[in-house]
Amino acid sequence: MNSMVMNRDIITNWAPRHERLFGRELVQLQHSLRETGMFTRDAIAKLIDNCPADDLGLESMCVETDRPDRIYGVLGGASGKDAIKAIEKGRMWMNLRRVMDWSPEYKKLLDEIFNEFEARMPGFKTFKRNMHILISSPNAKVFYHADIQGQSLWQIEGVKSVYLYPRSEAFMSPQSVEKILLRETDEDLEYQNWFDDYATKVDLKPGNMITWPLYAPHRVQNHDCLNISVAMEHWTKAIWNSYAVHYGNGVLRRTVGVGAKTTNDYGMHVYPKAAAAFMWKKFGGQIAGDVVKARHFRIDASAPEGRVDIA
Ligand SMILES: [Fe+2]
Repeated sequence: MNSMVMNRDIITNWAPRHERLFGRELVQLQHSLRETGMFTRDAIAKLIDNCPADDLGLESMCVETDRPDRIYGVLGGASGKDAIKAIEKGRMWMNLRRVMDWSPEYKKLLDEIFNEFEARMPGFKTFKRNMHILISSPNAKVFYHADIQGQSLWQIEGVKSVYLYPRSEAFMSPQSVEKILLRETDEDLEYQNWFDDYATKVDLKPGNMITWPLYAPHRVQNHDCLNISVAMEHWTKAIWNSYAVHYGNGVLRRTVGVGAKTTNDYGMHVYPKAAAAFMWKKFGGQIAGDVVKARHFRIDASAPEGRVDIA
């Protein structure tokens, strides 16, 4: 399959202007991931079958309330094929995390994707890349949040609306950024309906990809169809420095109460290298975030909502 990938551009409509826009503005591009054959339902089902249990995230919503109470589930012996069927009729959200760590083919593809970006943007050097595959139910939502590293979202099947909000203190306080980076929250932020008056809404269709500025808050709303998407994350030196600065400010504020406010991503304000290196070591080269949670349900393709409660 990979030989097919090698022969084509993964981004099919790249233009010189995208180099200036990438990571700084909302950028919408076209991709050829579907043509690799690696993201068909059969291929995804196989990935679900092979996904280590620790890397398979499964969430659902409490049926009674719209907001919160996420509950967590397990595959529970269901095949990948049945899991997709169950998600198609339920209200679930499955995340196959870090696919590149346990599937060499996808690691190779991920490298090809970022090699292509780096060839097109000489100043763009990534030192860590992640690929996650998201399989989510019709009308499923991801609540208002922000992410700690560079992000892109690649649509494979179905349609979803992505709402992107300005990266401004009106929509996310500096303290919220710190909380996210220090992992004191699950990355959900305070959201109010009027925020939408300032949002950019993108309907992401198969073959579309978007990427947005670092820390820009966003939320996602699936249309009334199964959605299969690929989420990619990347770290560059600038992103890492920004992380270190915010992290350092957060630690200072919590330990000695200094009202550190400087968040320039460069220069003398960068949190001491040694500390950053320590963090890097502590987190084993990635940001730990997959807190172990109680499991409430398992997949059952024959159940009305595609899931049954675990007693
Ligand atoms: Fe996100």
